[in-house]
Amino acid sequence: MCGIVAYTGKLNAQDVILNGLSKLEYRGYDSAGISVISNGEIKSLKRQGKIKILEEALEKNPLKSHIGIGHVRWATHGVPNETNAHPQISMNGKFSLVHNGIIENYLELKNMLEAEGYVFKSQTDTEVIPMLIEKFYEGDLLKAVEKTIGLIRGAYAFAVLSSDEENRLIAVKHSSPLVGGVFEDGIILASDVTSVISHSKKIIYFEEDDIIDVNNGDYTIYNKGKIIDRPFKETKMSLEEASKENYPHFLLKEIHEQGKVLQEGLSIRIKNNKIDLGEGAFSSSDLKKFKKIYAVACGTAYHACLAIKYAMEKLLRLPVTCEVASEFKYEDYFVDENSLVLVVSQSGETADTISAIRKAKDLGATTLSITNVLGSTISRITDRVMYCYCGPEISVASTKAYTSQIIAGYLLAIDMALKLDKISDDEVQKYIEEIKKIPAKIDEILKDEEDYKKIADEIKLAKSIFYTGRGLDFVTAKEGALKLKEISYIHAEAFQAGELKHGPLALIEKDTPVISIATQNHTMEKTASNNEELMARGAKVYALGFKENNLLKASSLEFIGIPKTIDLFAPILAVVPLQVIAYYTSALLGNDVDKPRNLAKSVTVE
Ligand code: M6R
Repeated sequence: MCGIVAYTGKLNAQDVILNGLSKLEYRGYDSAGISVISNGEIKSLKRQGKIKILEEALEKNPLKSHIGIGHVRWATHGVPNETNAHPQISMNGKFSLVHNGIIENYLELKNMLEAEGYVFKSQTDTEVIPMLIEKFYEGDLLKAVEKTIGLIRGAYAFAVLSSDEENRLIAVKHSSPLVGGVFEDGIILASDVTSVISHSKKIIYFEEDDIIDVNNGDYTIYNKGKIIDRPFKETKMSLEEASKENYPHFLLKEIHEQGKVLQEGLSIRIKNNKIDLGEGAFSSSDLKKFKKIYAVACGTAYHACLAIKYAMEKLLRLPVTCEVASEFKYEDYFVDENSLVLVVSQSGETADTISAIRKAKDLGATTLSITNVLGSTISRITDRVMYCYCGPEISVASTKAYTSQIIAGYLLAIDMALKLDKISDDEVQKYIEEIKKIPAKIDEILKDEEDYKKIADEIKLAKSIFYTGRGLDFVTAKEGALKLKEISYIHAEAFQAGELKHGPLALIEKDTPVISIATQNHTMEKTASNNEELMARGAKVYALGFKENNLLKASSLEFIGIPKTIDLFAPILAVVPLQVIAYYTSALLGNDVDKPRNLAKSVTVE
């Protein structure tokens, strides 16, 4: 996730900014850069890779100044390289800007500016902002910024310098975080408190649409044209606590981030109610070539493939074969030049998945990846790529990547179906309307966190826990079981509800916890009967379904109700309580939640 730092004061800006950036490292980034004003000019240095590389470059070419801005970038628009790294500079070189967030209407603004003669260097959405500021500048940076934010849409926190105003920096907060600290040696603004607390424990938390004008050592906050005051709040957070934004673990933070990051991802993928898959989009003639579709991945990403398979088969009426990547390499799956091989990987570096892609390519297939990391190996070696845009996932157990992978895959399926005339525009609109409601529904589910914690407390000492479901609910069951086992170390297994009586029922003892997922209308009654069979054998059945489902309430010990959505989208919501239950089970057992034993975040060996 991108992070910004801006400073002006008595200290050397380069040192304060580098220190501030280093505190944002935990957010994940792929490049870093800094700008200062020196002798009436903007001077900048940017490097791809770690902050250390930027630091070394600055040791050789120090940028001495009392004022500057810095950035760590997690690429969203454009690959990670020096040109796309921030600060982004305006065409005349007089305005330098760092940005955290996404400018949704950047393409239309870029087209407008290009028509007026502005020449862009980067592939970023950000570059339109300094260009607009240059266009509107008439000797007052604040006025130019105000005009600019009247045009841009999206989420942003940015800080900007102008070489014409050597003692001034302006920052704006709109839907992306921005905090500040005022201390004896200056004023620092940053994306999060981690960059501020080494200078000041008194923090200003800026609010929506605040514009902060730092001028000649003083600052003024404007909001909707009025000067306002924001209180300082004393923080007692340590650096480590601050990087988790007050959550005890990254996992819980990432679970809670889902509403926000899915919303951001959707704002990139859906424009004017139309799906825009960017580099991932196929034309109708490309699509007509595919006679077979394979979806290949490992672990949680494989479970995302299983959900995507349902969407593709339902919408495209084409069979989709799902396979775990470590098997795909060794087996014969009839892959040929008429095959599309879709691979899903959060890290983009999973060795098994990379091998599977190589095999698919050798067999002449077209490859498409859904991945979260721009510039990763998988994004580079597949023919096309769709990004998840869910920000860095630090906890080993995957949560927000999973839900964002399913959404990406679903949008792909809808786009393909429309292009192949399998569904109408009206149907697409219905899906779009519904998918846009998903982020808010996730936030709603998370309001019941205490109930899930109670369940975690009830199951934490169980020997085995079973998850059941049919069809798409079985996909959620598999993901719920994987989440629980990897962080709680309790034996957890998923079964198709209808398969129980063919063997697994023998495992049920008195009080064995069973989490039964039943969101799919066409199998609801059957699953409810299976729940009765389980309870008759002593199982403690926790049923998970859409709210107000009296049948499930009656056929379970406890009912976990989630907001209603269409059946196809249910896995995106139904997994969230299971993530929280897994989290609290692990935390209550005192496990190392973010780094479970024996596991790694990125599995780079086969
Ligand atoms: O980075 P990838 O998505 O390719 O990783 C695949 C699996 O290793 C990963 O999903 C793993 O199963 C997670 N620990 C699950 O939470």
